[in-house]
Amino acid sequence: MNALNRKTLRLSTSEEDIEKAGQIIRNGGLVAFPTETVYGLGADALNEKAVKSIYQAKGRPSDNPMIVHISDFSELDELIDASKLTEIHKLLMDKFWPGPITFVFKKSVKVPYTTTGGLETVGIRMPSDIVARKFISSSGRPIAAPSANISGRPSPTTYKDVLEDMDGRIDAVIKGSCSDVGIESTVLDLTGKIPSILRPGYITAELIYEITGIEVAVDPALLGTPDADFRPKAPGMKYKHYSPRAEVIIVDSSSLENEKNSNNETKFSQSESIKKILEKAEREGRVVEIVDYNGDSRKAAHEFFARLRDCDRRGVDIILVTALDDKGLGFSVMNRMMKSAGYSVVHI
Ligand code: TXA
Ligand code: MG
Repeated sequence: MNALNRKTLRLSTSEEDIEKAGQIIRNGGLVAFPTETVYGLGADALNEKAVKSIYQAKGRPSDNPMIVHISDFSELDELIDASKLTEIHKLLMDKFWPGPITFVFKKSVKVPYTTTGGLETVGIRMPSDIVARKFISSSGRPIAAPSANISGRPSPTTYKDVLEDMDGRIDAVIKGSCSDVGIESTVLDLTGKIPSILRPGYITAELIYEITGIEVAVDPALLGTPDADFRPKAPGMKYKHYSPRAEVIIVDSSSLENEKNSNNETKFSQSESIKKILEKAEREGRVVEIVDYNGDSRKAAHEFFARLRDCDRRGVDIILVTALDDKGLGFSVMNRMMKSAGYSVVHI
């Protein structure tokens, strides 16, 4: 099967279609499926050839490890040495699975290096989305699945987004509903002394502490930025991910936070830097879109990737996004926003 020339079946969420999807996986094919975070592009995690075709379909570097998805705790046994699980590991799994969090463990010999990008560890997630779990279970295999987008593009949160990038490159897409969370799972490394967040997501360090009393570290790489001054930079830098065709600029008004009677709109219109951007865009005939979640991180998570794709479809050239408070879920969404903007920030 050539990864780049396939007829992409549109499957419903009926039992019969889910069974078909499972069959495609057993035959070494590629199926995109809904999850509560974003849509995944699935293949049999233990079939190296199938996993290689994921990298091909996405145009993704093959040293980037995949998350392995399971539908039941019993499926852990062939992926890791379950006898080595600590009480902390068990508590975390018990409280947060099924759900939007991936745990990184030492892998068993059965998991191919092709799946883990050459690492001795494997990221595992049990999604809460019912269709996702039925699909995994019907395949009878652990499912390796990155987000179902062309590498570098915003992650897909609807099956239409998946088709926009993947039609003709994969065997099928399951037409589930829109992803509820909207950003990818939290990745929590459990292989060190202290659990450490490698990618922030809906399940935050604060929430983990609140629910389990377990303190987790946050990977220092997530706290720094490539430019400590937050100076606006040209897009298209090596740090750029989740990139729409439009130029994304983050607008940070936190220094004005204490000014009374000043909503974001007034702040925008009073800012010299924003005025300059808008005037220049007008002279050049470029279309600007202002995205303001008014500090609502939940809504921002749910909508941000979809909004980027929507702006592209409507031919928007510049997207100005107001920054969120860098705490809790806001921290996770800001991680995606900053990457999509290539760390380009304007302070007003
Ligand atoms: O929500 C999600 O996690 C979605 C859905 C489909 O489940 N999947 C997803 O996969 O976002 P992907 O491939 O786009 O991102 C996987 C992330 C990458 O940042 C990768 O480096 C990290 O997880 N990862 C996977 N396995 C890892 C491992 N063994 N060690 C460290 N990081 C790992
Ligand atoms: Mg991805």
